[in-house]
Amino acid sequence: MRLLLTAGPTREAIDPVRFLTNRSSGKMGYAIAEAAVGRGHEVILVSGPVNLEPPSGLVDFASVESAREMFEAVRDRIGECDAAIFCAAVADYRPVKIHEEKIKKSDDSLTLELEKTEDILGSARSIFGFHGVLVGFAAETHNLEEFAWAKLEKKGCDLLVANDVSRRDIGFDSDENEVRLFFHNGRRKTMPANSKAAIGEKLVEIIEALVKGAGADASPSDLFADR
Ligand code: PMT
Repeated sequence: MRLLLTAGPTREAIDPVRFLTNRSSGKMGYAIAEAAVGRGHEVILVSGPVNLEPPSGLVDFASVESAREMFEAVRDRIGECDAAIFCAAVADYRPVKIHEEKIKKSDDSLTLELEKTEDILGSARSIFGFHGVLVGFAAETHNLEEFAWAKLEKKGCDLLVANDVSRRDIGFDSDENEVRLFFHNGRRKTMPANSKAAIGEKLVEIIEALVKGAGADASPSDLFADR
């Protein structure tokens, strides 16, 4: 299968030397990409700035910085894909104005006006016309289940992978993750804490089953407990 992945953070410029970003390391997205290549799939990786080597064997790699660049890279590549997995931590807002020169320290306070960035996952169905298996992530600090179901529905996902990013041992910039899976057919599963590599492997197996139309019931049962 042909699979597109987004990974890592975005950077939204304030001036030539400053930007808004987040703690995403890219480890989760790169682990999924690595697993998918290892299982013989054609993988396109669209990545924000990270300190990781892209897995070897990708069919395409796009290195981007901002949400707008990530949007354009995904738009140009998603067409022929069987599945798209949006693991990137895309900035939701960017400065309205990018200062051409470094902002000098003058007043006691500085106000930045922000505007919404492109919603890349939310554009997959509506703007890109993507009909393949759509997998979104949700990074939540509270009300994880409620927000996950809402995102799944609103963005037209087949699967939503949610992680609790209030914890330091999983989620952003750690080697492990623990995720809860919310399927379009209403099923929920929990993948207990494990290395991002192991979680990436299992997610690719699940996505393979979804592409084959087998759905949540056919996904591997060994690691999951229904909750
Ligand atoms: O990179 P690591 O350090 O390994 O950490 C992994 C992770 C915590 C970043 C990853 O597991 C994760 O949760 N990724 C999603 C982060 C996120 O931004 O979640 P969100 O709930 O804000 O966004 C929901 C979904 O919409 C995500 O699929 C996101 O990629 C997508 N999105 C968000 C905003 C936007 N403008 N465009 C998008 O496509």
